[in-house]
Parts: sequence; C-alpha cells; structure tokens
Amino acid sequence: MTIYTDVRPSPKMHTLHSSLLVDHTMGFTSSNHQLLSTIATNDQHGENSPYFDGWKAYDNDPFHPRGNPNGVIQMGLAENQLSLDLIEEWIAKNPSASICTPEGVNRFKDIANFQDYHGLPEFRTAVAKFMGRVRGGRVAFDPDRIVMGGGATGASELVVFCLADPGDAFLVPSPCYPAFDRDLRWRTGVQLLPVACKSSNNFQITRAALEEAYKNAIEANIRVKGLIITNPSNPLGTTVDKETLKSIVRFINDKNIHLVCDEIYSATVFGPPNFVGISEIIQEVDCNRDLIHIIYSLSKDLGLPGFRVGIVYSYNDAVVSCGRKMSSFGLVSSQTQHFLASLLSDEEFTERFLAENAKRIKNSHQLLTKGLAQVGIACLPSNAGLFVWMDLRSLLKEATIEGEIALWRVIIKEVKLNVSPGSSFHCVEPGWFRVCFANMDTKTMEVSLKRIREFISSKGKTENVATKKLKLRRLSFSSRMYDESSAMSPRLMSPHSPSPVVLAKTS
Ligand SMILES: Cc1ncc(COP(=O)(O)O)c(C=O)c1O
Repeated sequence: MTIYTDVRPSPKMHTLHSSLLVDHTMGFTSSNHQLLSTIATNDQHGENSPYFDGWKAYDNDPFHPRGNPNGVIQMGLAENQLSLDLIEEWIAKNPSASICTPEGVNRFKDIANFQDYHGLPEFRTAVAKFMGRVRGGRVAFDPDRIVMGGGATGASELVVFCLADPGDAFLVPSPCYPAFDRDLRWRTGVQLLPVACKSSNNFQITRAALEEAYKNAIEANIRVKGLIITNPSNPLGTTVDKETLKSIVRFINDKNIHLVCDEIYSATVFGPPNFVGISEIIQEVDCNRDLIHIIYSLSKDLGLPGFRVGIVYSYNDAVVSCGRKMSSFGLVSSQTQHFLASLLSDEEFTERFLAENAKRIKNSHQLLTKGLAQVGIACLPSNAGLFVWMDLRSLLKEATIEGEIALWRVIIKEVKLNVSPGSSFHCVEPGWFRVCFANMDTKTMEVSLKRIREFISSKGKTENVATKKLKLRRLSFSSRMYDESSAMSPRLMSPHSPSPVVLAKTS
C-alpha cells in the first residue's frame, strides 16, 4: 500500500532539514539533551514536494511586466484576486465596519477586549447565513456549531486532532491538495492513505476505490478514522455529484468512520452542475450525523487568505466542544470578526459579490482553457475552483513520474511558468498539471499563453525527435527538482503571488 510518505525529497528542503539536524546535533549537551523536540524536527512537515519547489522558483525570479518581464509567472497558487475591488468599494462605503475609522472607533474598546473562544455571536451568525446562501438557501447552518480556526489550514488540523490519535489514518481520494501532507500530519501524527482515482472516469470517487483503500489499511493493521474529501476538488476544479456524495456517506456510515468535507471552494462554482454540499446530502441519506464535519474558510470564496478565517462546522456536539477548546490556538482576531460580521450580513452585497465573482472566475477560466485548446492542450472539463487540471500526457518522454518531473522542470526553467505537477497531488497517472488562473490579470494571463504557444510551436518546428528526447533525458536524470544554485536559501516558505499593486499597474 502506498502511504503518503513517498514524496521525493527536495534537496532544498533537505538542506534546510540538514541544517536543523546539524543545529540540534550541536545542541546536544553533555546530558544528551536535544534542544528542539523530535516532533518539531521530524520529517512530516511535508513541504518536500515539487509543489512547494515551484513556489521557490517564483520567489527567486518573480515575473513583473516591466521590472522582470522574463521572470517566472506564478500559476501554482490558488488565490482569488479577481474580485477584491468589490470588497474595497464596500469598505469605502461602510466605514463603520472598521474600528480604525472615526465612524467605527466607538466599538474599539469592546472589540479589543473580546476574548471568548466561541467567537463574536454576530460573526458566527453572519458566517452561518453566508454558508447557507452559497448553497442556494437549500440548507441552514446553526451558528452554535461554528468553531473557528486559523484558515482552513488550522481548522482542518483542529478537526483531525479531535478525531484521531497518532498512527490512525484518514483516506484521501487522490489527486488531492498537496498541503494536506503538511497541514494534517505534522503535529497530529496521523497518516493519510490515498484512494486512487483515475482519468478513465474523470477522477470520480467510486465505492470500489474506497473499499479497496479501506481493505488495504485494515490488512496493514492501520486504524482508519475517516475519509477527507474536497468538494469542489482541488486540483480538479470539479464539483462532486450528488450520487457520488450519497455513496460516500453510505460508505463512511457502513464503516462507522468520520467524513471531513473541505468545502472551501463552494462559491467558486461558475457553471453547471450546481454545488451540492454534504449538509444537503445528509438531509436525504440516513446516516449518523456525528460522523459529519465541514471545513470552510473565506480564503478562496472571498479571496481573503490573509484574514485567516477558518471554520469547522461539525454535526457532532463533542467535536464542537473539543474544537472550541482547541480553537484558542488559532482564533480569528476579533477585529477581523467584527469587520466580516458587517460585510457578510449585507445581503445585497454578498448576493452581488457571489454572482460577479463567479462570472469573473468563469471568464478567466475560459480565457485560459481556450488559449490552451488553440495549441492542442486539453484540460479536464471543470466548473469550479481557481485552477484547471491540464493534460500534458502527450508531451511526456516517458509515462512515469520521472518523465512528468522532467517536463515540469522544462516548463519552470524554460517557459518560466510555475505550474504544479500531478505527482505532487499524489495523482497516480503521470502527465497532469494544475494551473492556477485567478491570481493574475488578463495581461499576465496573455503573457503566459504566449509563452505556452511559443513553447509548443518551438517543439514542433525546431526540435527533431532525437534532440527533444536528449533534452528531456538530460533533465530527467538530475536529482534536483529545481535549480540547485537557487535552492540554498534557508528562507521559510510562504505563498507569494503578484502583489495587487503589480496587478493594478498592469491592468
Ligand atoms: C483544499 C484546500 N484546503 C485548505 C486550504 C488552505 O486554506 P486556508 O488559506 O484557508 O488555510 C487550501 C488552500 O489552497 C485548499 O486548496
């Protein structure tokens, strides 16, 4: 059985780890006392994958339309910068929503002193209503079931901590969000076990695949505590259909394991079929609701990852109460809660925002997919998310992960686009790449498409098959995933995309 520990080591991260190892080796005292904990220095942080290497490639040579026009374009970050102007307009019209304006400063003392782990009641009420609105009003959420975490990252770790002990496992359909490796395993000690999904059925999650992954775990003596799904899917950009969701609920109910649904892309759906959340499914399918938990955040739907608003919505009272105690480690600042309570309670605004945001995502998606189609590149048909799942299988020198990484290296180094290889999403079929499109303006997108066009046509015109093979082979045998010379920085990694200022100047 494959376990998510098979991510190839990145020398850069390895270097970072090695330096920590050297440090803490040096930190041994005569009494053999280790300065850092073994958990803090274990290798479960999971940032050793090409997904994160691509971020470094961008950081080392970031594209700027005038300052660095030949730099790397960041298409490896699922950020939504398409509708921030609408929020800016709202802020300008609603100065009392902020405690830092003459109109809002009268709430300053209240908000600055607020310490309750439960969160501001008006914030929880507004988030619950917003979640209901995103689901077309077909389901209502109870504000008392909302637990806060630091972004979906903090919220998902919190729920995993509440549900599982070190060594326990969660099944995760693959391809899946690469940072689950980092976010869910490091401090909790849980394992993630892949459920292999394939292109032959558009990567849908089948009962047979779930049963097989479950059986493998049991045979390996691993206790399975739950299943984690992302709907809409990152990286596929597709919504999970109703029948599949029903079959997933029946599966977890039969096995008496938890279902954690990461629904942080629920308002990015821009085409049919509509988003159907797990809260709607459990109204139709008989199941033990204590097993159902939703992860939400405003990072994608509103484009506010910097606000670190994460939510666990659990139908299980014990998880809500345990989560509340945990949430003190990652509370959302009360200033942010206060602001968002006003913004999300403005129904006229949220209605308009959701419609306009979906329209803009759709336009960017079309611009990218049509541009790719012009040079014969197909993507998995998708209706949601901030990315497409691009099929470059025909460009692989060999249909292996090495072949995929070789092509990825050419795309980063020569085409200068940071796209993310499918293997970093634990995709079992080599040749798929995730391409993000909502963190850039139209002009930057056009530069990306121009580079792709030139790359494809140069391959056709100037490279005969032999030289093409040679080039890819040369690249595929390097042990380094990305340029060694730039890989030595001990900087800690953090997502960077073109700043809004750059975007504004280019548009
Ligand atoms: C599926 C999924 N879950 C969680 C996260 C983390 O989101 P947040 O910024 O709210 O922590 C991301 C971010 O890309 C994601 O794609």
